Amino acid sequence: MKPIQLFDPASNTFTYLLFDEASREALIIDPVDAQIERDLGALRTYGLKLLWTVETHAHADHITSAGQLAEHAGARTAAPAGCGITTAAVQLEDGDTLSFGGEEIRALHTPGHTAGGMCYLWRSHVFTGDTLLISGCGRTDFQSGSAEALYRSITQILFALPDATTVWPGHDYQGRTHTTIGAEKSGNARIAGKTLAEFVAIMDTLHLPRPKRMDEALPANLSSGIQHDAGGGPLLEARPAPGYAGDVSPQLAHKWWRSGEAVLIDVRTDAEREWVGFIPDAVPLVWKPGPSMATNNAFDDGLRAAVPKGKKVVLLCRSGVRSIAAAKRAAELGMEAYNILEGFEGDPDERAQRGHKGGWRHHGLPWRQG
Ligand SMILES: [Fe+2]
Repeated sequence: MKPIQLFDPASNTFTYLLFDEASREALIIDPVDAQIERDLGALRTYGLKLLWTVETHAHADHITSAGQLAEHAGARTAAPAGCGITTAAVQLEDGDTLSFGGEEIRALHTPGHTAGGMCYLWRSHVFTGDTLLISGCGRTDFQSGSAEALYRSITQILFALPDATTVWPGHDYQGRTHTTIGAEKSGNARIAGKTLAEFVAIMDTLHLPRPKRMDEALPANLSSGIQHDAGGGPLLEARPAPGYAGDVSPQLAHKWWRSGEAVLIDVRTDAEREWVGFIPDAVPLVWKPGPSMATNNAFDDGLRAAVPKGKKVVLLCRSGVRSIAAAKRAAELGMEAYNILEGFEGDPDERAQRGHKGGWRHHGLPWRQG
């Protein structure tokens, strides 16, 4: 069994798709945002159900599509715990495993290119990200890099694997696709046969240019590749609406909520919060359990219990539609109730996909995957 190797020519990045033949459950390593359609197409072609997206580290040269794959393919996101990718549902520690069907990968913490970076072992294959490249290695001059740590990670962790282990790197700039532990041990230009001092001296004299997309890629990758809308002028005050106090932007709702002026109620279903993402500390109170179903009987009591007298209530749903009905009900109960425009996921784009046009998450407000 071999991984499916995919390549993004703009950033010379390899993405790997692994799957279990019987269950068709799959896992993807280091997916690239510009290749989202290709990757969704590959899942369809092979008839796969994507369970996991996994990062080797927070990349500086391309943006991950993990957040988009979570939304469009229902995958869960995983990332090394030390990389600061706070939106990932699973924060991996050294030795942790992720299962898909009867298969699993194991995380190997290999600091050096970045302090939190990891390689992943699957059967007799290792996915090395930027820790070990074909006759090379990742740079160590920024992003908490350390040549000493990289030397230890490569020589003591990766070179301790069997020589026949296939190495699948995060990049190659010369058209090569893979190598082996044995070949790198004997022939890697930077590290084979070198002492720690010699390796550090080599790394210190590389003087590489900054990655072109670093300023854009790094912040985006810390939130699973969902890019934040920096400008755009959020609605600074509430807009009155018939039947309830008014509509507010996600940003204004967040401000009121954080200052203690308002209680934030998430009226989506448990399944939506679990699959799409939730807001830590928001009060979950489902408005309608399903599209055709009646309103939740416990809504009124739940709302009265959650909202102290004299406080505003701001209500959030997927796109700002269900929350209008919920805000009207809250107003009938005597509350100063506001609907959060755009909801958690915003409006659908031209391909009927959400997550790119407005919404709590798109604006970079705090959330996590369930
Ligand atoms: Fe990197």
